[in-house]
Amino acid sequence: MTPLLEVNGLSKSFTDHHLKQTMQAVEDIHFTIQKGEFLGIIGKSGSGKSTILKSIYRTYFPETGDIIYDSTKYGKVNLSTLSEREMIDLRKHEIGYVSQFLNALPRTTAFELVEQSIIEMGRTAEEASRVAAEMLTHFELDPELWDRYPNTFSGGQKLRLNISCAIVKKPRLLLLDEPTASLDDASKLKVREMLERLKIEGTTMIGIFHDIEFMDGLCDQVFTLKKQLVV
Ligand SMILES: Nc1ncnc2c1ncn2[C@@H]1O[C@H](COP(=O)(O)OP(=O)(O)OP(=O)(O)O)[C@@H](O)[C@H]1O
Ligand SMILES: [Mg+2]
Repeated sequence: MTPLLEVNGLSKSFTDHHLKQTMQAVEDIHFTIQKGEFLGIIGKSGSGKSTILKSIYRTYFPETGDIIYDSTKYGKVNLSTLSEREMIDLRKHEIGYVSQFLNALPRTTAFELVEQSIIEMGRTAEEASRVAAEMLTHFELDPELWDRYPNTFSGGQKLRLNISCAIVKKPRLLLLDEPTASLDDASKLKVREMLERLKIEGTTMIGIFHDIEFMDGLCDQVFTLKKQLVV
């Protein structure tokens, strides 16, 4: 079986020119994920968990290493060198990312954001509003908030909106950066329920979790990051 994703020797450092110091954010990371698997990433704050997800989503350019992704549209591609145009296309159709921070478009309501994510996939406006309503209802985002701009939302409300926007696309590979941080227990369960459903449908996922109990029975592999040293 060909893996869906293979990370080989991924390293990334950041240089602070002011302090003349280089920080090795991640060094020589290797892991492989088969289709339909769930990989959990754990590690202390600052150990490089988000850097790994951002390198896969290519918010960060990896410094060294290959990130081989088996795409539906392009076949096997190396995400660390893929063209920007193809990367944007993969983000639209194949790879989803849930960050804890919402990068909301100006003057776009919560409901429109979810609808747009669906329309980008080539679905009709009618379908988009039906699915958006279903998703926001599932995550119990108060309907009073649907027509509001999300910049004023609380952390948990933003997170639930973010998750909704990513999940409606039914990505093949879903990257989750602490999707349960700042949620209460009931909302955490809603997220878990949705991730279980996605897993049954065959979605491959990589998730960062502080709360390891939350992953019980969901993760096929757990990758633990050690704290990196300043060099
Ligand atoms: N854009 C950046 N510029 C400079 N340094 C960065 C940047 N992104 C990450 N780093 C540094 O790389 C290291 C790893 O950061 P990262 O965000 O990956 O950690 P993390 O494991 O996700 O931490 P947390 O659990 O707190 O979210 C940190 O020391 C951080 O300061
Ligand atoms: Mg992080």
